Amino acid sequence: MPYSRRDLLMLAGHLGLAGAVLPRRALAAPDRPISFLEAGFAPVHDELDVKDLIVRGEVPRQIAGAYLRNGPNPAYPPISYTYPFDGDGMVHAVTFADGKASYRNRFVTTAGLRADRRAGRTIYGSLLAPVPPDARFVPPDGDPSPIKNVANTNVVRHAGRILTIYESNLPYEITSTLETKGRYDFAGKLSGGMTAHPKIDPASGEMLMFRYSLRPPFLVYRVVDPSGAIVCDVSIETGASFMVHDFSFTTNHVVFFLCPVVLDLAAARAGEPLLSWQPERGTRIAVMRRDGTGDVKWFTDDAFFVFHFMNAHEAQGRITVDYVQHGAFFTAPGAPPCLWRAVLDLGAGSIKRTQLDDRESEFPRVDPAQEGLANRYGWLPVRLKGNHPGTFGAIVRYDLQAGRSAVHEFGPDREVGEPVFVPRPDPRPGGRSEGDGWIMTYVYDRTTDGSVLAILDAVDIDKPPVAEIVMPRRVPHGLHGNWLPA
Ligand SMILES: [Fe+2]
Repeated sequence: MPYSRRDLLMLAGHLGLAGAVLPRRALAAPDRPISFLEAGFAPVHDELDVKDLIVRGEVPRQIAGAYLRNGPNPAYPPISYTYPFDGDGMVHAVTFADGKASYRNRFVTTAGLRADRRAGRTIYGSLLAPVPPDARFVPPDGDPSPIKNVANTNVVRHAGRILTIYESNLPYEITSTLETKGRYDFAGKLSGGMTAHPKIDPASGEMLMFRYSLRPPFLVYRVVDPSGAIVCDVSIETGASFMVHDFSFTTNHVVFFLCPVVLDLAAARAGEPLLSWQPERGTRIAVMRRDGTGDVKWFTDDAFFVFHFMNAHEAQGRITVDYVQHGAFFTAPGAPPCLWRAVLDLGAGSIKRTQLDDRESEFPRVDPAQEGLANRYGWLPVRLKGNHPGTFGAIVRYDLQAGRSAVHEFGPDREVGEPVFVPRPDPRPGGRSEGDGWIMTYVYDRTTDGSVLAILDAVDIDKPPVAEIVMPRRVPHGLHGNWLPA
């Protein structure tokens, strides 16, 4: 554990005090508070197994595999709640075979959730208002932290293991039928958790990941080989602790954006906020060889914030990174998050940033075969006029080569989540062209309080859906997920 119990209490306590960096925009609409426990965000409590779901349209028979998606879903009424940090992880899986679809959902049965179940209520607080759990319900191998490891942010498969991830703690492994196996530490080689956004290189089969910490080493980069073994473990000297949610990689390099959201234990001990937005530091970018050798190259620019990267690639001594830029942490007034590009010149040490779009967006994804390579296409949800705060009403497909985009609007009162790309199976190695496949995303309808899983042609995104799978009940808005081919 990188954090002591005292540190965690201090972290959480100061997060609560650090009003200047709280996600005000995400938490409150101008005229009424947003509840991330209502409408499309409200948790569900049943764990279902439903075969042969109703399909509008036709599911392509080539689609074989499962779409797994994780997200916060508090099992008990929370003592306090801040989306998206809190809430027990719940994985929703839609499995496809022979043109039919089935659904299963399960809580990630973390040690903290097991303790809650023993108590019959939640005994944990939240990231912003931690409550030390009642020790009577926490066994020796339980979760004693006042901030529960909820394993709610992403679900990935690598080396045959399916991991649910919460970035500040160890992942939980689940089975293909969504039963929780337990915490997973890579044969004892992972301490202190892993990013919820590990990257799987389609060329090498490696999984690249990192973690940030309150104490030195503040940033640790790791490589997991295709068999699932950690084979590279390198500290990057950052001089301070920065909150880093995601990163990007290319054929030869990894790229970390150190936006000035700083965690400072010494400040916290002196009564100052532990977490603070320090724009005077600017945003620094670290570029390192993927094998961890050689010097880290640093780039500096004005302050901005990034949660999520679309992709990165390198050519002729330059690294191009596409990402969703926030003006500040979370969002600066009048500067909604939207798609930007940074080009890093490794020889000159210079950086050039360009805004690619002005539509408010987040959760960008690419065709997984293009991860780390130049990608023509990218997909992300965008907010439309009239969309409720915190929700998106359309999926945009960018053609970054042509500088064009196409939009699929889902209609009034329909809200979408992260798009996931489903490649069209092709037995020929390298036979499939980029973008040949489908986009899946959950669509929540406010008027019916129900959900469908929409399947869209990935390139011709503006066409009517190929199919809509009618979910047996609402699937709450969540965070991240992935397509797991059969
Ligand atoms: Fe994320």
